[in-house]
Amino acid sequence: MSGGSAPNPKTPKSRLAILLSGRGSNFEAIADAVAVGAIPSAEIVAVLSDVPGAAGLSRARQRGLPALAVDRKSYPDRRAHEAEMLRQLDLARPDLVCLAGYMRLLSPGFVGRWRGRILNIHPALLPKFPGLDVQRRALEAGEKESGCTVHFVDEGTDSGPIVLQRRVPILPGDTEESLSARILEQEHQAYPEAIARVLQGLPRPR
Ligand code: GRF
Repeated sequence: MSGGSAPNPKTPKSRLAILLSGRGSNFEAIADAVAVGAIPSAEIVAVLSDVPGAAGLSRARQRGLPALAVDRKSYPDRRAHEAEMLRQLDLARPDLVCLAGYMRLLSPGFVGRWRGRILNIHPALLPKFPGLDVQRRALEAGEKESGCTVHFVDEGTDSGPIVLQRRVPILPGDTEESLSARILEQEHQAYPEAIARVLQGLPRPR
C-alpha cells in the first residue's frame, strides 16, 4: 500500500519559536494554523516575551505551550537581555524564530546568530513605511492601499528579504483603527502561509 501524503509520525516536526511583546493575535493565528495542520508538521516549542504582562504570554499558557517572560526590566542593558533571550532560544532549538509584535530592536549579533531563520511581520507594504506608526503614516501620505509584509530579519529596520505580502485597500473615511483592523485580518492569513512556505524551503524573496 502506498504511503500517500500522510505525515510520517516519526518525522521530526519543524520547531517554531515565537517572540512577542503584546497582544499576541499573530501568535494565535500561527498556533491555530499549526493545530489544524495548515503549517504542516510543525510545533511551537517556545513563546518568549520581554514583557511579563504581555497578553500573548497568557494566551500561550492557556494553550499549554511553553511560555516564558524574559523581563527587559530585570537586565541592566539590551546586551544582557539579549544574551538571555539567545540562551533561551538555544535551549528551545527552534528551526525558525517568528517575531510577532516583538517590540525590541535586535542587535547585529542576534540577527547574525539566526540569519535566514528569523521572520517578522510588518503592517505595511515594505519597503514603504518601515518603522513605527505605519498605518497612520500610510493614511497621512494619502496612500490608496496598504497591507502587510512577512520578511526575513536582517540588520536594518524592516529591511530583510520579503517572503510574501498581502494588500488591502485604504477606504474613504478610514481611521488608523479601521485600517489597522483590516490589515490585521490579512496578517493572520499571511504569517502562517509565509511560515509554511519558508519551512518547505520555498521562500520567494522579492
Ligand atoms: C502587528 O500589527 C504586527 O504587524 C506588528 O505588531 C503587531 C502585533 O500584533 N509587528 P499582535 O501582538 O500579533 O496582535
